[in-house]
Amino acid sequence: MQTIKYTFQPHGDERGQLISLEEFKDIPFRIKRVYYMYDTAADVVRGHHAHRNLEQILVCVHGSCKIRLDNGREKKVVALEKPYEGLYVSNNMWREMFDFTHDAVLMVFASELYDESDYIRDYEEFLKFVGINE
Ligand code: TYD
Repeated sequence: MQTIKYTFQPHGDERGQLISLEEFKDIPFRIKRVYYMYDTAADVVRGHHAHRNLEQILVCVHGSCKIRLDNGREKKVVALEKPYEGLYVSNNMWREMFDFTHDAVLMVFASELYDESDYIRDYEEFLKFVGINE
């Protein structure tokens, strides 16, 4: 299973680093929503869902965490450990976020506004949606 991890180019100088992310340039879609998770309790696993249409880029802007991606056939774990790394997560992809460090801030750039009807929260339904277990 192929995963797309971006390495964003920082504008670094003697003062420090700055990363700018523009829609259709650094982020491959129109950014309609940004949200972020922080103060995640130890041993918590978030996510446990897929989306029918939503595309996302995940950036752990501080600390680190791991993302488990599952397309119904294969699973892959990707670590996000640097603020210049971005993981693309397509629609039709079951995701779980875990192993958050206490200082982790996981920022998500999303292609759509929040819409509960876009979520698939049942794993069996997800497998049917992606054409497995029919
Ligand atoms: P939830 O879907 O449980 O987060 P995760 O998938 O990371 O475990 O979302 C937690 C709560 O936040 C839930 O009540 C829905 C709400 N929420 C919004 O209102 N807007 C958003 O953009 C997101 C992602 C969640």
